[in-house]
Amino acid sequence: MNELFSVDGRTVLVTGGSRGIGLMIARGFVAAGAHVIISSRRAEACAAVAKELSAQGRCEAIPADLSHDEGARGLAAAVQDRVDKLDVLVNNAGATWGAPLEDYPESAFDKLWAINVKAVFRLTTALLPALRAAAGPDDPARVINIGSVDGLRVPAMEVYAYSATKAALHMMTRNLAHQLADERITVNAIAPGPFESKMMAFALDDPTIRAGIESQVPLGRIGRPDDMAGTAIYLASRAGAYLTGAVIPVDGGLTTHG
Ligand SMILES: NC(=O)c1ccc[n+]([C@@H]2O[C@H](COP(=O)([O-])OP(=O)(O)OC[C@H]3O[C@@H](n4cnc5c(N)ncnc54)[C@H](OP(=O)(O)O)[C@@H]3O)[C@@H](O)[C@H]2O)c1
Repeated sequence: MNELFSVDGRTVLVTGGSRGIGLMIARGFVAAGAHVIISSRRAEACAAVAKELSAQGRCEAIPADLSHDEGARGLAAAVQDRVDKLDVLVNNAGATWGAPLEDYPESAFDKLWAINVKAVFRLTTALLPALRAAAGPDDPARVINIGSVDGLRVPAMEVYAYSATKAALHMMTRNLAHQLADERITVNAIAPGPFESKMMAFALDDPTIRAGIESQVPLGRIGRPDDMAGTAIYLASRAGAYLTGAVIPVDGGLTTHG
């Protein structure tokens, strides 16, 4: 059974791996014996996290700004300079924007479309040579996109562009899964509910809002790092080899109502 869920020795790229959900996933993979590359815009933050995680295993940093095509292409090139194959690509980097309906800025749509959708497409396609090199008939290469419950149901907060881009990402996941199945590359999405992060700090750091969110979650709590790392590791292991085009809510049951 240990072997069924093993990711030992796999090469994994986690975008936005410097904090929040990306760090939860990166930390889980390092602890499970994978060789992890993390990426985010801020080089110092990335390097510091890679150094910390290297105490438990193998982790390195390649900074990149994924808000434009050259950034995504540059990251793909830098990764492919360092490794011969990429077993797992975790497209986690993302951003949100909240504002009242009539004040919601057009710029939010452009910003979030670029990072939450376009960057995932560009990075995945630019990394296809390394993913193909890892893909085998019984052990496909894996792409794991981090979507959101806000792309599955109407969010409680006014995050219009965010929820639209996450719904787009879920659809793109299915589209790429269909397209890449022949090449033995699986593409799945995790749709997280509330998890502790900088993105969620405005809500979770306020005890009243936090309690309100917890009361909405049927399992009665905020997500924990193991909840996120566990699902990503399952998808990346032999146990997840026959799953493609799925959008998995990791949300304590939030999407069972509302
Ligand atoms: N936390 C939640 O409850 C929750 C729920 C549902 C879905 N999600 C999704 O989970 C993912 C991670 O979110 P999080 O909550 O962990 O947010 P976070 O704490 O804000 O982390 C975002 C990460 O992405 C990186 N990043 C942001 N913009 C980037 C850019 N232009 N280029 C490269 N890297 C960039 C950030 O590092 P730099 O600032 O250094 O670039 C950071 O590492 C997102 O896709 C988010 O939509 C989160």
